[in-house]
Amino acid sequence: MAKRTKIKDIITTDKSGYEATVMGWVRTFRNNQFVALNDGSCLSTLQLVVDYENSDPKELKRITTGAAFKATGEILPSQGRGQKYEMKVNSFEVLGDSDPDKYPLQPKRHSLEFLREIAHLRFRTNTFSAIFRIRHQLAFAIHKFFNDRGFVYIHSPIITGSDAEGAGEMFRVTNMDLNNIPKNEDGSIDYKKDFFNKETNLTVSGQLEAELGALALSEVYTFGPTFRAENSNTSRHLAEFWMIEPEVAFNDIHDNMDLAEDMLKYVIQHALENCKEDLEFLQQRLENEEKQKPQKDRSLMSLIEKLNFCKDNDFIRLPYTEAVNILKNSKPNKKGKFQFPIEDWGADLQSEHERYLVEKHFKKPVILIDYPKDIKAFYMRMNDDDKTVAAMDVLFPGIGEIIGGSQREERLDMLLKRMKEMNIPEHEMEWFLDTRRFGTCPHAGFGLGFERLVLFVTGMTNIRDVIPFPRFPGNAEF
Ligand code: 4AD
Ligand code: MG
Repeated sequence: MAKRTKIKDIITTDKSGYEATVMGWVRTFRNNQFVALNDGSCLSTLQLVVDYENSDPKELKRITTGAAFKATGEILPSQGRGQKYEMKVNSFEVLGDSDPDKYPLQPKRHSLEFLREIAHLRFRTNTFSAIFRIRHQLAFAIHKFFNDRGFVYIHSPIITGSDAEGAGEMFRVTNMDLNNIPKNEDGSIDYKKDFFNKETNLTVSGQLEAELGALALSEVYTFGPTFRAENSNTSRHLAEFWMIEPEVAFNDIHDNMDLAEDMLKYVIQHALENCKEDLEFLQQRLENEEKQKPQKDRSLMSLIEKLNFCKDNDFIRLPYTEAVNILKNSKPNKKGKFQFPIEDWGADLQSEHERYLVEKHFKKPVILIDYPKDIKAFYMRMNDDDKTVAAMDVLFPGIGEIIGGSQREERLDMLLKRMKEMNIPEHEMEWFLDTRRFGTCPHAGFGLGFERLVLFVTGMTNIRDVIPFPRFPGNAEF
């Protein structure tokens, strides 16, 4: 194929009067003359002006919304409004037809629900192409952040024999014949006959493996898919999501908070610098959407203001105990407005509580630390009070928990005690315990839910709209 010039390059290069070839998909074709062409390199379309008087009418008929199109011509300053450059087409070719009566994406506004059903085509809309370009930039920024600081990227396994979170919400991996499952004499399943000769599942977190890496390489991170069979049909949960998990030797909980805050600010800054056009588009989209809402439910800040605000302000750091006191005495709690009222110390915080703290009380991102041990995982470091652990959750406006992490229990006797209390079988965890037997040291890490970050930065409200092909209860299409 002929060399093509990306539309982004044509639009951002301050140059005209040269010949170029562009390829992309037709968004609209007006007056038998003006093609709006998009190639995904940026949000903008390039206006192509076709010489319809000297073109074959049969070929002109093939220029329809959705068709793949190639054109060669001269890039000139645009006569029309709304664009700086346009192409005066010398020759064109329809590379792939798109029947306008059948193509589901008409040049009009479609609901997000409808687009979710045709997720295989939604990349072609302004909204979703913007989201996925931003998603890419955020992934890139995360790798850059850690690489610049000397972290080593570890690929933790996707199929594992352990339940890192001890929460038991796992997808089983097997190649056994489900119609003829091998059984032991007592009727239980004989996993020795399974592919790996043991029970295996898709990973819920790469943390435990990252800890093994950190206790040799000092600073590591994972960035991979994780899977949770939790039956939560919410706008913030997926059954398959991507998680970033840094793990750092010799870091305590305070270093861990610093790292989390620095990382979030860095990637937000990167998006602001590199995704301007897409962010402005999504900001406008959000504003239009909010116009339907009553004044009191609208956001006080625009999308870009909100990103700048989180980037420029220190996050509040607060012990769980203080947060519970604030919540207990809060208006919504006293008026019975919380679905889960806060009565006693020890209550697990729900998204409504997290969002109250962030959006109403502090109006800033909040890092909660020192949670009751009973609502947190076995590997978190016990505090001296013997009641709380050195856990941290980073809470963001509109999202709630975006990061969960902790300083790890590095003391073998303490870790064994917690595992016993939480019924975690020691013999399955010998490999993990070895790090505490040989050269153990203080260390800490956290997990950032990548889709929750993308949700925050794009201003979208449903997590199913920020991953190309969402998996949730009852849905694994495509
Ligand atoms: O808080 P979580 O469960 O923590 C861990 O998995 C730790 N092993 C992390 C660590 O310390 N290395 O999950 C971490 C983050 C959450 O804060 C949330 O952002 C995201 O992962 N997350 C989900 N995102 C989408 N869908 C789900 N079902 C999620 N569950 C957790
Ligand atoms: Mg958590």
